[in-house]
Amino acid sequence: MSVLRILTYGDDRLQTPARAVEKITPEVRKLIADMAETLYAAKGVGLAATQVGAMVRLCVVNPEPRESGEEKTSKPVGHRVFINPQIIWTSDDDVPMSEGCLSLPGIEAEVYRPESIRVRYRDECWRVHEEEMSGLLARILQHEIDHLDGVLFVDRVGFVRRQVLAGQLRRLRKERESIFVPAVLAGDKC
Ligand code: NI
Repeated sequence: MSVLRILTYGDDRLQTPARAVEKITPEVRKLIADMAETLYAAKGVGLAATQVGAMVRLCVVNPEPRESGEEKTSKPVGHRVFINPQIIWTSDDDVPMSEGCLSLPGIEAEVYRPESIRVRYRDECWRVHEEEMSGLLARILQHEIDHLDGVLFVDRVGFVRRQVLAGQLRRLRKERESIFVPAVLAGDKC
């Protein structure tokens, strides 16, 4: 397993829709293992394949990266894998929650989304599931499925807030341009 480089704002792949996973191959298994390791290393709650440059519809989620009262740990247990996740129902409400993203370091904004969703997905054994979820898990899944559609959470904030974020986003884009980007990333193989 290896820790993959997480793409940051300004990389076109973050705004490009991913294609469906067609079957579980050794490459997909490796991508999942590497994404899980990358998520723990980054101490994040969710990571979509597009964030590591793999343009396929899968994400790894871990709503509880830390134990209560403790510092965030990188303990490699507890994550879940969602392959080809699809939202098939949402509740009628629209609730605000502050979101951040490993691809937009330092940026947080309040985003409105439904509190509950029903998701159809495949697991890493290619079994189909349908699951209703709410709260933090539903929030993370909606954020990650957005990534797979090429949508970032800053695309969902209101016009005024977006103006406030504009300077920070410009700075992120500049920082990215100053970093050497290797032509082939491990995640590109899948
Ligand atoms: Ni994100």
